Amino acid sequence: MPIKKELLDTLKDKRKKAKAAGGQDKIDKRHKKGQLTARERVERLIDPNTFQEQGLYVEHDCHEFGMEKKYLAGDGVICGMGHVDGRPVSVASQDFTVGGGTLGSKHAQKITRIMDNAAELGTPLVAINDSGGARIQEGVSSLSGYGQVFYRNVYLSGLVPQIAIIAGPCAGGAAYSPALTDFLIMTKTGASMYITGPEVIKAATGEECTKEEIGSATAHATVSGNIHFVAENDDHAIAITKRLLSFLPSNNMQDPPHRLNEEIALTSDPSINEIIPKDFKRPFDTKLVIEKIVDDGDFIEVQEYFAKNIIVCFGRISGIVVGFIANQSSFKAGSIDIDASDKAARFIRFCNAFNIPIVNLVDVPGFMPGKQQESGGIIRHGAKMLSAYSAATVPKITLIMRKAYGGAYLAMCSSDLGADRVYAWPSAEIAVMGAEGAVNILYGKELKGADNEQEARKKYQEEYRDRFASPYQAARLGLVTDVIEPSETKRVLSLALHNLLGKRLTRPPKKHGLIPL
Ligand code: HXC
Repeated sequence: MPIKKELLDTLKDKRKKAKAAGGQDKIDKRHKKGQLTARERVERLIDPNTFQEQGLYVEHDCHEFGMEKKYLAGDGVICGMGHVDGRPVSVASQDFTVGGGTLGSKHAQKITRIMDNAAELGTPLVAINDSGGARIQEGVSSLSGYGQVFYRNVYLSGLVPQIAIIAGPCAGGAAYSPALTDFLIMTKTGASMYITGPEVIKAATGEECTKEEIGSATAHATVSGNIHFVAENDDHAIAITKRLLSFLPSNNMQDPPHRLNEEIALTSDPSINEIIPKDFKRPFDTKLVIEKIVDDGDFIEVQEYFAKNIIVCFGRISGIVVGFIANQSSFKAGSIDIDASDKAARFIRFCNAFNIPIVNLVDVPGFMPGKQQESGGIIRHGAKMLSAYSAATVPKITLIMRKAYGGAYLAMCSSDLGADRVYAWPSAEIAVMGAEGAVNILYGKELKGADNEQEARKKYQEEYRDRFASPYQAARLGLVTDVIEPSETKRVLSLALHNLLGKRLTRPPKKHGLIPL
């Protein structure tokens, strides 16, 4: 006996009603603004025909302010699991066309269920944020809902990768769920994120500002450092999400998606010998080095526009996924300042949590000097890098390309901080400080008494450079694994990474250490 036709018709009607979201008018309004709907975003993210929705028929149970008469399809959020490039991913996509995508208790329940799923099944979580925030009519229930989401963001942290796309408004405390995820991708079209908007700021402090200044993708990518990727629009945000996921494991129990069947690169690349300028004071673009050592020149940079003095990115070397932390001498001479320390430390901790080997490319003159840096707490912030590297148990390879001075030499993962391999190019200068500073301190009296101070200074600096500003003193002391020609870099790193993949380092159990926050 086939199932009754009326039952199937009812199901079809209910599906149609729920999927109609907030109605065609509201959908058209979004499209006009260049934004996709919540469902279109999910459809573009997930491999065709693989999305399994959860809670399509969920409705709110609020009876305040006439809400009992208001139908909110799916309570304003689409949740479920689907495949991204064949791997299961948990998704929550807020629907602005339905009650402004606001979060009430049922909306929160749908999200927390999918987060619990992600934890239990070990799938990455992608949360697409597009919401007016806490649903005012539901009062403290909506705040409580946010609390439950935050709680799970923290629970998931280090278990599965969490990616937040900011694709619409994200105001007030709502911004803290994205802030508790690993990567924030924000669109330039229609997205904003702030704790209090310009009006509240004006009323509370008298300061004038625009929404763009405090809450746009550009502001967060360049000034606040709150986000990791800027997307031109929704489609771009989804493309970034997929690309990012292609470098990440689904959870902390898995290895990242290495391609171990790739051939190990055993040939040399003489063009790398050309990168270091003859004049050791001239900057060079470290991205050129990364491009030459990653497979197909392909890498994805995280926080490209923030703290540009340090580069963090994912790429593959002979098939092995690695996280790079690299000084960029062409910005602030590659010195480590507060923002660079925060950026690098966060990235190192992410790599460690998800079994991603770390490669450090070093050309660092030191920590950034300055009153602002000292008062801003460079000691505390710089310590985050020392802490993150020392705590990281994944394979750690350091390549010293040029300068590696003082505390910054240590902070870029010297062998003392547990680097498994430290390679140095012959241009490496590993010392307490550069020749200029060192000569002033070591030969202050001699310089004052010299007939020709300039000549004497030059002579002392050359002597110093010959003795200390080379990789060989460190190599003699066993602090450098090998001094290599730049052209050999990819071969050396490829072999070392393959050798180190089996690294399993365990530490004594403890509740947790204290990051210098
Ligand atoms: C209930 C809300 C709402 C809210 C928007 N809506 N925000 N309903 N609670 N917080 C509803 C509107 O009434 C409208 O319903 C629909 O969503 C679309 O909103 P519009 O204002 O018409 O859209 P637009 O002009 O595009 O403006 C979007 C907006 C604005 C910028 C998001 O709505 C706004 O400023 N909302 C308030 C944002 C806010 O302050 N939220 C609270 C933040 S504090 P209809 O029925 O007409 O479609 C917070 C605390 C979290 O979230 C704490 C966690 C710890």
